[in-house]
Amino acid sequence: MSSKIKFGILGGGGDSLIGVLHRIASSMYDQYQLVGGVFNPVWEENIGFAEQIGIPTNRIYIDFDTLIEEELKLPETERMQVVSILTPNFLHFPMAKKLLENGFNVICEKPMTTSYAEAKILENTLQKHNTVFAVTYTYTGYPMIRQMREMIANGDIGKVQKVDAQYYQGWINPIIHDKEKRASTWRLNPEKSGISCCVGDIGTHAFDMIEYVSGLRVNSVLADLNYLYSDNKMDIDGTILIRCEDDVKGVIRTSQIATGEENNFTVQIYGEKAGLKWEQENPNYLYLLEDGKPMRVLKPGHTYNSELSLDGTKLPPGHPEGIFDSMGNIYKGVAKAIKNEPYNHGEFPTMIDGVRGMNFIEKTVESHQKGNVWIKLDS
Ligand SMILES: NC(=O)c1ccc[n+]([C@@H]2O[C@H](COP(=O)([O-])OP(=O)(O)OC[C@H]3O[C@@H](n4cnc5c(N)ncnc54)[C@H](O)[C@@H]3O)[C@@H](O)[C@H]2O)c1
Repeated sequence: MSSKIKFGILGGGGDSLIGVLHRIASSMYDQYQLVGGVFNPVWEENIGFAEQIGIPTNRIYIDFDTLIEEELKLPETERMQVVSILTPNFLHFPMAKKLLENGFNVICEKPMTTSYAEAKILENTLQKHNTVFAVTYTYTGYPMIRQMREMIANGDIGKVQKVDAQYYQGWINPIIHDKEKRASTWRLNPEKSGISCCVGDIGTHAFDMIEYVSGLRVNSVLADLNYLYSDNKMDIDGTILIRCEDDVKGVIRTSQIATGEENNFTVQIYGEKAGLKWEQENPNYLYLLEDGKPMRVLKPGHTYNSELSLDGTKLPPGHPEGIFDSMGNIYKGVAKAIKNEPYNHGEFPTMIDGVRGMNFIEKTVESHQKGNVWIKLDS
């Protein structure tokens, strides 16, 4: 019998953005076997998609309650061991909670829930049931991001003195100025998306990235958000000043109305000795900046990289690593955890990161609503 991890998917149907990324990532290191799921709430589309991608249809279920009920009837050796949740945000919490309560390992898209209160409940549920839980802050899987984390932890740039992350997209620009269109996207509907659009969707990646690479926790935020229209309840742009531990200050700049921008996510960390810069649209280059010296460019796969970085590189230097590889590395780390093999804690984001992400979103919105004041995050 195959020793692959039996894997199910909720959401991520043929009409979705993120489904293909998870399917490819899960197959990248030959660790997972996709055995079923619920790809879509419309049965014909659900089953039709399973047929289209060529997986057996006997474990395609009508909804996620049925998935849990039917999977629990199977012997443990056949049952799904992990389920990925790739639905719109409002379904993450009920799905993850019920899966955890029934002993399944979970990989959940971000934002983990629609509120901090839900995130704390989920954290509590995980503590009781003790399975593996990962949140897919996808970009933490890039080899050069892992290298950045390790170099900063090793003191290569000295004491950190400035942190900066920018996540600029322009995709909402053609939607936001059209009243009908802005009323029909789920991301601008608080019931489906949560209390924030831009900060929840991409600002949270920037927040997690700063904490991941710098190793510093963000302690407080002061936000100025932008909504553009009075009938739009959801932020679509924001500038957030942050204060981290060790008196480090910085900024998160995030936008979905940065006209013409695609996925312009960058992170810059400056220390007393050097700075490190990385750009998602050019992810194979990590720039090392030092006073009075020419800039150096570090690339994946070279032996000068850390073990954590090299573990996420499959081919010799010069073969570009992209977003699929990055997500593949997260799935690889989760597979190690499920199989009880040793792994580095930088290999995948956990419940702790998901909870912190939700706390950040809520405190950022609160800061804006209270008139752009400093708000402390929970420690
Ligand atoms: N990690 C990242 O970088 C990243 C990038 C994009 C999206 N996301 C996250 O992934 C999630 C999905 O985003 P998307 O852009 O793919 O959304 P989408 O709207 O494109 O797709 C959502 C999918 O969920 C399915 N779905 C809806 N209700 C369902 C239900 N009740 N049961 C089963 N399936 C259901 C839909 O049919 C569709 O296939 C969101 O939480 C989003 O924030 C993360």
